[in-house]
Amino acid sequence: MCGIVGVLGTHEVAPIIVEALKRLEYRGYDSAGIATVNNGELDRRRAVGKLVNLSDLLVHDPLAGKSGIGHTRWATHGAPSVVNAHPHQSGPVAVVHNGIIENFKELRAELAADGYVSETETDTETVVLLARRFLEQGLAPRDAAEQTIAMLDGAFALCFLFHGEEDLMIAARKGSPLAIGHGDGEMYVGSDAIALAPMTNRVTYLEEGDRAVLTRTSLEIYDANGQLANRAAKTLALDEARIEKAGHKHFMAKEIAEQPIVLADALKAYSTADGKGIELPNGTLDFTKCDRITMVACGTANLACQVAKYWFEQIAGLPVDVDIASEFRYRKPVISDKSYALFVSQSGETADTLAALRYAKDRAAMILSVVNVPESSIARESDLALPIMAGVEVGVASTKAFTCQLLALAALALKAGHQRGHLDDAALAAHMADLNLLPGILNQSLALEKSIKRVARKIASAQDVLFLGRGPMYPLALEGALKLKEISYIHAEGYASGELKHGPIALIDKNVPVVVMAPTDELFDKTISNMQEVMARGGKVVLITDAEGAKEASDGVWETVVMPSISPFLAPILYAVPAQLLAYHTAVAKGTDVDQPRNLAKSVTVE
Ligand code: F6R
Repeated sequence: MCGIVGVLGTHEVAPIIVEALKRLEYRGYDSAGIATVNNGELDRRRAVGKLVNLSDLLVHDPLAGKSGIGHTRWATHGAPSVVNAHPHQSGPVAVVHNGIIENFKELRAELAADGYVSETETDTETVVLLARRFLEQGLAPRDAAEQTIAMLDGAFALCFLFHGEEDLMIAARKGSPLAIGHGDGEMYVGSDAIALAPMTNRVTYLEEGDRAVLTRTSLEIYDANGQLANRAAKTLALDEARIEKAGHKHFMAKEIAEQPIVLADALKAYSTADGKGIELPNGTLDFTKCDRITMVACGTANLACQVAKYWFEQIAGLPVDVDIASEFRYRKPVISDKSYALFVSQSGETADTLAALRYAKDRAAMILSVVNVPESSIARESDLALPIMAGVEVGVASTKAFTCQLLALAALALKAGHQRGHLDDAALAAHMADLNLLPGILNQSLALEKSIKRVARKIASAQDVLFLGRGPMYPLALEGALKLKEISYIHAEGYASGELKHGPIALIDKNVPVVVMAPTDELFDKTISNMQEVMARGGKVVLITDAEGAKEASDGVWETVVMPSISPFLAPILYAVPAQLLAYHTAVAKGTDVDQPRNLAKSVTVE
C-alpha cells in the first residue's frame, strides 16, 4: 500500500526523500508528495501519478529544508488527485499516513462541528485536523500527536512534522509496519528498511501500538500503554544491488531470471549437510503432532498453498484446508487444537493474512509462516517463521517469491512425509536428488524465452485467454491466468481441465487461446483428452509440456512449448516459469506498465 518516509537530516532532504520513495514506489503509485520544515515554515509539493511527476515538479519548484516527510500513495479514500495526495497539512502540522482510519467519518463530523472543516476526501485529513485542534488548544506538538493518535481507530503508520520544529518528528504504528533508521546525527522513518537502505542499515522496528519521538540525536519509543519501551536496533544485511534492475528492462524480467539462483539458496537453507534430507532453517517441527494443516494466504501466495495441498495430502497423508485470507478471517473457521495453521506471504504484511493469523493464534496448536521478509509482522507473530530466501522482490507481479514459496512448502511436505512414515529414508533421498536438480532444470527452461515471446506476441491480441491444468497443475493454471491479467490486462481464467465441460467450454471459439499446462504425469492423458475437446470446438491451444508429451500430443495444436523433463512432484515449480514469461512478454508486446500495473500495489496493508 502507501509508502512513507521521514528524514531529520543534515543536508537538503527533498532529493533524499525522493530516492527513498523510489524504493517504496512498489507500494503505490497514484500520487506522491513531500513536506519539509524550513526556517520554521512547513511547505510541501505534491503530484498525481508516478514519482517521476513529483521529481519533475521539484526541478521547477524546489523544496528547501533539512527535515521532511514523503509519501507514495495507493488511493483508498478519495481519487488520485493533488488535493488528496499526502502529505496532508493543516496550519502548523503535516502528516503522511499508510493504512485506513476507520472512524474518520465520526471524527470528521466532530471536527466540522468545531470549525475544522475537511477540504479533501481522505481519511488522513482528519489526523492533521485533530492535531491542529490540539495544538490550537495549547498542547505541545508531541502531546498533540499523542492525543490525536489515541483518537484513531483502524490501521495506520503515521509520521508527523510540525511548524517551528526542525528537530522533531513523531511516528506511530498500529497495524502498518514502520522502521526507524539511525544515521550519523540523522534519524529516519520508513515503511520498510529497504527505503532506508541507502542511508543506513541500523534499524529499529516499531511494535504494534508503538509511538516514537525522534530528534536527530535521540529516539524515544513508547508502547501501547504509554510506557517507555526498549526496542533493540538491528544491523541489517541489505544487499542494495538486489534492488537494481541489473541490466534488465524490468524488475519482473530480472526476478524471473534470478530464480535458479534464489531457488538454489533456498534449497541449501532447507537441506541437511549431506543433501539427503530436510533441515528447517529456523527451528524444528513435528508433523506427527498435528492432524490437519490450515493454510491461509492471498493471491499468488494462496496459489502456492493450493499446490502444497496436493503435496501434503499425497506425500504426508495430511489433510489440508486452503483459504483466502479475506474470507477466512470473517468466516469463523473451526480450527482444532491439533491443527497447524500456516500463513504464506511474500511481504509478511498483507493485512488480511495477518488478521487471519491473529484469529488462528489461540486456536491452532502451532502458527507457522512462510515469508520473504524476516522482520515482517507475520514472521514476528508466528511460532515458527520459515524464510523463502527470494531476496527483495520489486515487480508488483510475484514471480521468484512464488517459486521460492513452493520450494519451502515442498520441503515442509517432504519433512512431514518422512516424519509421518509415508516416505522412508530412500524415498526422501530420491526426492532430494530431484530437488537438487531443480535450479539447473529451471535454468534450462529460461532458455525457452525466445519461443515463449513468439507465442506471447500472438496472445497479445486476444481479449480472453483460458489456462487449463489438472492436479497440482490446476493451481498453476490459476497462477498463469492471474499473472497474465494483472500485467497485460487481458481477461484470463484458470480452470481445472476436467471442469471445462461443466460450463466454461461454452467460451471456446477461434478467438480464445487456451494454454494447457501438461507435464507427462499420471494425469497427462486425461488433460490431453480435455485439450482435444477444446480443439474439436475450434479452440487455439498453446500446449506447454515436455518432449515426451509434445511427441504424443502436439499434433494440430496452435503452439507447443517444450519444457525440460522433471519429476512430476516438482513440475509445478518449473511450470511457473513459462506462465511468468508468457505474461511478461504479452505485457511487453502490449506496452503496459509491467512492474507497476494499474490499480495494484505490492504490499496490501489494507483489507
Ligand atoms: C500477484 C501478487 C499478489 C500477491 C498477494 C499476496 O502477482 O503478487 O497476488 O501474491 O497480494 O501478497 P503477499 O504474498 O505479500 O502476502
